Amino acid sequence: MPADAFAEGSNLGITLNYDTGITLNRTVRDIASRTLLYPLRYSVRHSIACRSSLMINFRVLATSVAVLCLTLPVVSNASADNGEVNVYTYRETKLIQPLFDAFTKDTGIKVNVVSASSGLEQRIKAEGANSPADVLLTVDIGRIDEAVQAGVTQPIKSELIEKIVPAQYRDPDGHWAGISMRARVIYASKDRVKQDKITYEELADPKWKGKICIRSGQHIYNNALFAAYTAKYGEAKAEEWLRGVKANLAQKPSGGDREAARDVAAGKCDIGIGNTYYWALMMNNDPDKKPWAEATRVILPTFESGGTHVNLSGVLLAKHAPNKANAVKLIEWLAGEKAQQMYADQNYEYPVRAGVAVNPTIAGYGTLNADSLPIAKIAASRKTAATLVDKVGFDN
Ligand SMILES: [Fe+2]
Repeated sequence: MPADAFAEGSNLGITLNYDTGITLNRTVRDIASRTLLYPLRYSVRHSIACRSSLMINFRVLATSVAVLCLTLPVVSNASADNGEVNVYTYRETKLIQPLFDAFTKDTGIKVNVVSASSGLEQRIKAEGANSPADVLLTVDIGRIDEAVQAGVTQPIKSELIEKIVPAQYRDPDGHWAGISMRARVIYASKDRVKQDKITYEELADPKWKGKICIRSGQHIYNNALFAAYTAKYGEAKAEEWLRGVKANLAQKPSGGDREAARDVAAGKCDIGIGNTYYWALMMNNDPDKKPWAEATRVILPTFESGGTHVNLSGVLLAKHAPNKANAVKLIEWLAGEKAQQMYADQNYEYPVRAGVAVNPTIAGYGTLNADSLPIAKIAASRKTAATLVDKVGFDN
């Protein structure tokens, strides 16, 4: 499975991935029966499962599950930390489970995971004060922002996080922190693109007419890039730029980042826009798509003022975290050297912690000079950028 498969728009729906691999979609009855048999051992899971099942449309089973919820012990969010932490995540479980396993090995704290492709902040909000969520993991500033706007977070309050994570990758109010970074870059045709440098501004230059491939302008990755442009130059210039980029597209925006490389390889366009880790995944982990990477090379673009646009995988502390101390421990552990190296080597992301080496494939792109624009300012321009995409008919 690719990195961030959930974030790529798959509609897998809500899946509960506990250490046992139970999935609610398939086995509500199993969870219920196991909970009956092992009420103490499964109390936390039961608590999550019951609330979750009531959130989604398992109408046939709702009544019986609801009865179980009322009759079996439920972990209160007022309870003291009990050796566990509950993580809601947009990140694919397969990618982050090794991190959680290592955390458990280091600390003895068990990690219960709830994965979904969308709607986690709404779910936490609906669960209210009884939400079992302790930590929310996201893959984009857009989702980070949505969680904060939904009012389901609280300040992390960790001196360690403030020390390790650079200020531009943290919320000024402490509600979120970046754990790893990805840059939005150019997959350039090895055959047809001779220049080694390119600016984001240049993407609107008519010399690229009919030569650019990109996914939907409303996708969260492009929204963040367009928001960064808007934050730098203002709405009017951003609109003008978007019209220029739109005029240069080889085809209607479609697919994902990998497909941009695919279309460059097929000769449909000369440059594609994609995130740094997809190219590495295609080159190293996906033999079927390796030819797409081999036909292209990654250029780290910059704004004319210097700096490459980066986005964050972030972590947030849930407002009513019942295991708050363990949650902060996990957040701090994710910013530690071991976890940061795992992010770098397994997910091909840039660590936020200084001194941790990036993966050699990623290092091969050149030295990343990340844009200094604070992520919080980019987040503040997201809505304007989305409006502009519609206004210029970017996806039409
Ligand atoms: Fe992704």
